[in-house]
Amino acid sequence: MLKFVKVMPEDELPPGKSAIITAGEDEIALFNYKGKYFAIANKCLHKGSPLGEGRIEEGVVICPNHEWRYDLTTGDCPQNPFMKTKIYPVRVHKGLIRIGLEVEGEKKALGIESSAPPKALKFTIPTIQKPINPDETL
Ligand code: FES
Repeated sequence: MLKFVKVMPEDELPPGKSAIITAGEDEIALFNYKGKYFAIANKCLHKGSPLGEGRIEEGVVICPNHEWRYDLTTGDCPQNPFMKTKIYPVRVHKGLIRIGLEVEGEKKALGIESSAPPKALKFTIPTIQKPINPDETL
């Protein structure tokens, strides 16, 4: 079953920023790219570098390490048609960004004993893309 879990308020992720979300065993890179949100598996299929610290060109996130590329909307790897990484659906409701996670009972899916899913989420915000205002800090 797909469950949309609250991640963060929209105003904490302005255009050009990304966040790396840890939800149980999943690490997810969440991007605000030109005002739209995209969530993709954080670990590069090559050697696991964090895609949440990569840059985006024309809707494609580029791994910060050896520049493998992944389409934000499909997870396709343009350099290799046999490779595809995981993407996650994103919704916004009442100003909160939510990511769709597959759950088989909340405890198992989120890897915790708590029954409060949002508390299972940890996130860091790398300042990887060019901020709109270069003086801005998070
Ligand atoms: S780890 Fe991503 S391209 Fe090598």
